[in-house]
Amino acid sequence: MGRTELTSHDQDPAHRLSLDEYWMPFTPNREFKRDPRMVVRAEGMFLWNDQGAKIIDASSGLFCVNAGHSRREIAEAVGTQLTQLDFIAPFLRAHPKQFELATRVAELTPGDLDHVFFTNSGSEAVDSAMKFALAFHQARGQSGRNVFIARERAYHGVNFGGVALSGLVNNRRKFGPGLPGVVHMRHTHLKENAFTCGEGEHGADLAEDLTRFVNLYGAENVAACFIEPIAGSTGCLVPPKGYLKRVREICDEHGILLVFDEVICGFGRTGEAFASQSFGVTPDIITMAKGLTNGAQPMGAVAVSDRIHDTIMAAAPEGAIEFFHGYTYSGHPAACAAGLATLDIYRNDGLFERGRALSPYFLEGIFSLKGSAAVADIRGYGMFAGIDLQPVGAPGARGHVFQKKLFDAGLHLKATGDAAIIAPSLIAERTHIDMIVDVLRKTLAAL
Ligand SMILES: Cc1ncc(COP(=O)(O)O)c(C=O)c1O
Repeated sequence: MGRTELTSHDQDPAHRLSLDEYWMPFTPNREFKRDPRMVVRAEGMFLWNDQGAKIIDASSGLFCVNAGHSRREIAEAVGTQLTQLDFIAPFLRAHPKQFELATRVAELTPGDLDHVFFTNSGSEAVDSAMKFALAFHQARGQSGRNVFIARERAYHGVNFGGVALSGLVNNRRKFGPGLPGVVHMRHTHLKENAFTCGEGEHGADLAEDLTRFVNLYGAENVAACFIEPIAGSTGCLVPPKGYLKRVREICDEHGILLVFDEVICGFGRTGEAFASQSFGVTPDIITMAKGLTNGAQPMGAVAVSDRIHDTIMAAAPEGAIEFFHGYTYSGHPAACAAGLATLDIYRNDGLFERGRALSPYFLEGIFSLKGSAAVADIRGYGMFAGIDLQPVGAPGARGHVFQKKLFDAGLHLKATGDAAIIAPSLIAERTHIDMIVDVLRKTLAAL
């Protein structure tokens, strides 16, 4: 037994758990282990902790369970799959569900983004998308295009490519120089748009940062521009009106690929399958994960356009591997089964439409918190909102205390720094929204 132990509420010594060995991700481990918050069950909109307390999940776990927790249909599909075909080498061998899921994803993606490559996470999807962009330009004889343009405050995962693209200092500062050739446009989190519900009036001109980089580095050296349509992990930063359209235009003018990282935005969060459709802007590549399997199996994917697919295919000799990239678990049978069951639920229960219909009620509730002295800004779009707290002490300190107090008051959410991020499952009823707003209001008042 380790130095730090947790005894479950029934006080049975057999249930003593050593907390020493597990290194938790993105967590102050020592603090957590002194004062742990354990979740042992989840269903629908709710979690239960190891003390038996019921906690409403206001962030769909980590923006994953868009269809609510512990869906039996998904569990059964995964169980059946694992007893039928648990694993197949994804290189040179395949199973039908990989093709079926790719087709179902392609039915949801905008435009001709109809070619789907599977990964195991959003981070892997992002790094794969970088490789697709480089391979595409090489295949069309433009191998000089190696520069990537991303944005401040972006989050594109934790692998070296994604960290280089991300605009979050804490995710990079301990890990050396990272990938060269990545530059960052300014973010669009502007004071002028404070407390704007939906797209802000100010900031479309920030898209011109892209032109400045083109002028600085030469369009012939730029591979792709990575954008989260709504920057998620840094607090739901909704794009200003016209911003994404202008980014698209500049990319087109200069032969730069536009990648939308929809790891959070995808699968109904913005009222459509993808935020691309909500904002009426079609990228060349979409990265996705999380809601793809409702969080029940680790899976990500990259959808690329006909042009990218056809160009890479055509450049390789017949019989050759066209794209030297892939993971042992790409298109894992259990993940594909989970993905198919998840997409069935979204379609059969009309969850994207449901989220779209609930959005005004949800956003009205969240924006009703505006009067609280602790609140510095609120943003929102679809079933997605961010609340910035007035900072007290070190940056992020208040946000950290806030999420702990919320959990103890019966609400789970993801906080980044001093921003609380609210993204309920699309199965939510108005009563759940009322509950979320009520706990937020009371906890803000006592902060
Ligand atoms: C936009 C975006 N990209 C990439 C990722 C990384 O995904 P994962 O944690 O599955 O690697 C995330 C995770 O939150 C994300 O929000």
